[in-house]
Amino acid sequence: MRSLIDITDLSLAELDSLIATAQDIIAHPEKYAEACHGKKLATLFYEPSTRTRLSFESAMLELGGSVIGFSDAGNSSAAKGESVADTVRTVECFADIVAMRHFKEGAPLVASTFAHIPVINAGDGGHNHPTQTLADLLTIQREKGRLDTLTIGCCGDLKFGRTVHSLISAMSRYENIRFVLISPEELRIPENVRSEILDRRHIPYEETTDLEGAMPKLDILYMTRVQRERFFNEADYLRLKDSYILTPEKLKTAKSDLIVMHPLPRVNEISTAVDSDPRACYFKQVLNGKYIRMALILMLLEVTV
Ligand code: NCD
Repeated sequence: MRSLIDITDLSLAELDSLIATAQDIIAHPEKYAEACHGKKLATLFYEPSTRTRLSFESAMLELGGSVIGFSDAGNSSAAKGESVADTVRTVECFADIVAMRHFKEGAPLVASTFAHIPVINAGDGGHNHPTQTLADLLTIQREKGRLDTLTIGCCGDLKFGRTVHSLISAMSRYENIRFVLISPEELRIPENVRSEILDRRHIPYEETTDLEGAMPKLDILYMTRVQRERFFNEADYLRLKDSYILTPEKLKTAKSDLIVMHPLPRVNEISTAVDSDPRACYFKQVLNGKYIRMALILMLLEVTV
């Protein structure tokens, strides 16, 4: 029985296989329509979500399975003080697989050590978000035709942004990848990502505060929201929230085949005027997220089609 807690829980061969399955689902959705008939997914969301939860739910429904769960832990027994360990041992009596989002780093890992069914980390605090990374990998593969030989700019809140931590971890495993890490001083990439991923794997990277200076080098620009809910005080958030706002003007020096990504939700960091630029890929990421989560559910439930 497998869980997905960290993106490195999957080998490169397994990432390739998930991407291949997702592409087969896109080409032949009817083949998969009953693949999870009789199976249930539980979505346990202790933090707000639109895309991730609905994407998991649609993924399971499009595989012919069904869905239970909660989207507001305030209405669950968590509000009475129940532990994640007890909640997951309860939920496994009803479901075959769990997707859990939690405000505490490590909560899905704890759940997976108690559960006898697969647990998927759907985002844990400011730590990791492996299934967003799966959506990102499928998007990069579809849009760029490769996962190697890319200069990736990550811009915004690199400190608290869990999607960036998982993306760096995944992309560092491919050949000839370099990163340009663009953030305000206060929101630089955490030390553990720097030492345990970038330095350990000898990945070339630079850190800068200058988005416009970095723009011409980039093959991918991955924008992120300043993570208000992880700040200790509102004044710091207000000071930093509009550090980077991508506009059509700033894209003028970008490569013609750049792709602009964002895990969403967007607040101010990409002007809506960018949406009609063919390089904007953020809504494609949303759709790709559903297909790759379908592939992931099949893999973890060991369903063959
Ligand atoms: C991200 C998250 O929850 O970390 N959203 C998502 O799942 N697509 C990004 C964010 O909230 O900024």
